[in-house]
Formats: sequence, C-alpha cells, structure tokens
Amino acid sequence: MVSWNRAAERLFGYPAGEAIGSPISFVMPADRVQEENQIIDRLKRDEYIDHFETVQRRKDGQEFPVSVTISPIKDATGKIIGASKSVRDISDKKRAEEQIQTSLREKGSFVKRNPSPGQKQFTSSDTLGLNLNIAPVAFSMETAVSCGQLINELVSNCLKHAFPNGRTGDVTVELLSNGNDTYLLTVSDNGVGLPPDFEVGKAESLGWQLVPMLVEQLNGTFELQESAGTTVRLTFSEIHYKGRI
Ligand SMILES: Nc1ncnc2c1ncn2[C@@H]1O[C@H](COP(=O)(O)OP(=O)(O)O)[C@@H](O)[C@H]1O
Ligand SMILES: [Mg+2]
Repeated sequence: MVSWNRAAERLFGYPAGEAIGSPISFVMPADRVQEENQIIDRLKRDEYIDHFETVQRRKDGQEFPVSVTISPIKDATGKIIGASKSVRDISDKKRAEEQIQTSLREKGSFVKRNPSPGQKQFTSSDTLGLNLNIAPVAFSMETAVSCGQLINELVSNCLKHAFPNGRTGDVTVELLSNGNDTYLLTVSDNGVGLPPDFEVGKAESLGWQLVPMLVEQLNGTFELQESAGTTVRLTFSEIHYKGRI
C-alpha cells in the first residue's frame, strides 16, 4: 500500500500511517485473499477488470460487503507498476436487498424462470418472474416497517390477483432515492389489471384500506396506473420523530 486516503481511513478504521507499507491483503478476510490474488494476476496480464462485489474487514475485525473498482497504474512506457483500488461500502444496499428478498421468498411463489431448451410449458409455479431494483438506502426502523408492510400488501396482491389461471408475467419492485430523504417505491405487474369498478376510497377489503394508511404514515402520496397490468407508485419521506420524552 503506497497511498491511503481519508475516506479509506474512515471506512477501514486504519490511519494512513498504519496502512501504508502493508500488503493489500491486510483488509481482507483470510478466505478472500485468494480471490484478490487472482484479480491482481489478471490485472498484471493487462486484462480489463469490471467492478465486483466482495467482502473486506475493518480494523475492529468487522467484515462488510463492498463494491470494488480496480485499475492498473502504468508508467510512461506502459508497464504496469501498481494498481489503484476504490472501495465502496454496500452494506445498506445488501441489507435492503436481503430484507425484500426474504419477505418475497416467504411468499414462496417466485422461482427463476430459466426454461431449459425444448421446454415449452411452464408448470404452475414457474409462471412468474421477479425484477428487483433496490437502491442502497438506510431507513429508520419506523420507515422500514411501514415500507415493508406496503411492499407486502402490494406484492401479495400481484400474486393473488394479477395472474389468474396460470397466466405468466412479471412483478417488479423498485425503490429509488430522489435525494433529500425522498423515495420512490414502485410495485408493478403486467397481469390482468384492477377490476373496472375498483376505487381506492371505496375498497372494503383490508389491503386497499391499509395501503393509504401506510402511505400516510410515511408522509407520502401514491398514484395508480392501470395500463398493461397494475402499477402503484409511491413517493414518501423518511419518518423522523421529533425527539422523545
Ligand atoms: N395487482 C392486482 N391485479 C389485479 N387485481 C388486483 C390487484 N391488486 C388488487 N386487485 C383487486 O383489488 C381488490 C382489492 O384488493 P385488496 O384490498 O388487497 O383485497 P384482497 O387482496 O384481500 O382481495 C382485489 O380483490 C382484486 O380484485
Ligand atoms: Mg390484498
């Protein structure tokens, strides 16, 4: 290690004085050193290395998931004389993905849709695809709970109502950050669509009574879009409690 910036000091907990001079493997869990060596070998052969996800270790021993970008440093003659590595902590992204994956897996209805060649028909459990696009966000507990309940209600509805009689299709869950603590959550399906007489304020069923209440808890607004299935788009903010007594 010949250089170690402020961000690296904060991320790993080692001051530059301790990091510089150490082998690059000193922030790596033992079982990842081999992986890193292979990447360095590829770099030495001047292969292009796309960014990749791995695990690193802080000074206090804590391991955390990261996204790594690594590129060669060359001298004037083009000879590789080192590597520059930039590491981004992706703990929040991983946590958000895991929460959503877990809550979806509990529904037990999603499988990977990879029909083998020659396989023409899906069985009833192979009919739905799932697209997830979850931004790396860290919510307060209150926000996470309401947001989780909303996803739960909306995804349940997609599974229960959008694809009757073995109809195939996709469910998409997307969570984007708009900046300033504002988020956009979209749950959509390309199924049969809402019944023609459906009205949000008039729903007597629990799900669509709960959805507006949960959105309100999040200081949010929502809109329903009914083209090629059902899309629910929610904009909301972090719940901030103004101090507790
Ligand atoms: N994604 C969807 N696709 C098609 N129909 C839907 C969808 N979501 C909801 N619906 C319709 O709206 C109704 C109300 O939904 P909801 O309030 O969650 O009640 P429940 O799921 O208990 O029937 C459902 O019964 C269904 O007819
Ligand atoms: Mg429902």
